[in-house]
Amino acid sequence: LTFDLVLVGFGHVGRRFVRLLDANRTALESGGLGVRIVGVATRRHGHAYASRGLDAIALADRVELGERVGAERGVRRRSGAATAFIRDAGRRSATAARQGRLVVVETTTLDIERGQPAIDHVRTALDCGAHVVTANKGPVAFAYGALARAAERAGRRFLFEGAVMDGIPIFNLVRDTLPGVSITGFRGVVNSTTNYILTAMESGEPFGAALAAMQRAGIAEADASFDVDGWDAAAKTAALANVLLGARLTPASVAREGVAGVTPARVKAARAAGRRLKLVARAERAGRAVLARVAPEELPGDDLLAGLEGQQNALVLQTDLLGEIAIVQRGSGLTMTAYALMADLITIARQCSPRRRAPRARR
Ligand SMILES: NC(=O)c1ccc[n+]([C@@H]2O[C@H](COP(=O)([O-])OP(=O)(O)OC[C@H]3O[C@@H](n4cnc5c(N)ncnc54)[C@H](OP(=O)(O)O)[C@@H]3O)[C@@H](O)[C@H]2O)c1
Repeated sequence: LTFDLVLVGFGHVGRRFVRLLDANRTALESGGLGVRIVGVATRRHGHAYASRGLDAIALADRVELGERVGAERGVRRRSGAATAFIRDAGRRSATAARQGRLVVVETTTLDIERGQPAIDHVRTALDCGAHVVTANKGPVAFAYGALARAAERAGRRFLFEGAVMDGIPIFNLVRDTLPGVSITGFRGVVNSTTNYILTAMESGEPFGAALAAMQRAGIAEADASFDVDGWDAAAKTAALANVLLGARLTPASVAREGVAGVTPARVKAARAAGRRLKLVARAERAGRAVLARVAPEELPGDDLLAGLEGQQNALVLQTDLLGEIAIVQRGSGLTMTAYALMADLITIARQCSPRRRAPRARR
């Protein structure tokens, strides 16, 4: 089965995703999954659509040279908002959409105030009969319940493994491998940039130099204050709480303190006392409500989260039947985020395999 992909956002993650797909093409095809990229939409680098498929690697090369995707020979140059582009691509790929073979891959920039326009991108894609996979935290952090219901109504999947801890399975793990288990809360270190900064400060590196290293590596968010002020961690906390605890949080409803006020003296004093300062994200049920917060915490040296170095992340899930389950991410990087998108795509393809009945799109 060949899936047609429309990429909305073609930045670091989107481009790494197409290179990862290309590198794994033979393995995917031998597993029965063909992939064709039919559309690419960006903010400043133009739009391109071709129902016969685009040369996505050539387009990635062009963007990396500072050129537009819309100038590819034979590809119509398009303008206008990505939402209109998705609607148009949905019309032009109507057969693939009807057959459940159209997937919109949303990797636009995180909007921390409203999660837009990514939420509109997801909604429009589902309306067109496309599945959606995203690495963008916005839609899950602001509108998970509504989008999950829209996907259910459309008979399509809305998957977002890359939104938290890159490709390390969190949402997939709970959804696919913990039937009958309730998640009652969680705590974790979920932002690589701030963990790198806090670790580097322990060995005397200035805050600014550590942050600059994360920006050079493409790990820090486009606006690094999202990391430093705890907004990225708050968005991930809201996303995790909404999906795993059935909460209806937004990043703003997570009590939040970032690392901007953390002094080298505080970091070193904690270390000298056998403790470590970490930016900890937590959520737990309190009656019918879910309380969530992100703040620097001094953890005892033998705490699993205290052992995290550099860019490492970890999440400890509290469950009713299995006690605590910990997931540690020891490496990070763009390929892992790109893998999350590929894993979600494979999940969709498995569901649509001819041996299983494909979901019917309802309009
Ligand atoms: N980088 C990571 O390690 C990582 C890890 C996990 C999750 N994420 C998430 O993945 C997403 C993408 O990250 P990234 O590093 O690839 O960001 P990026 O390099 O800044 O790329 C963002 C892309 O989205 C496009 N875009 C932005 N607003 C748009 C709009 N309104 N309509 C159409 N296209 C739009 C941009 O177009 P132009 O280039 O033309 O501006 C660009 O192609 C973000 O939500 C981020 O939080 C990133």
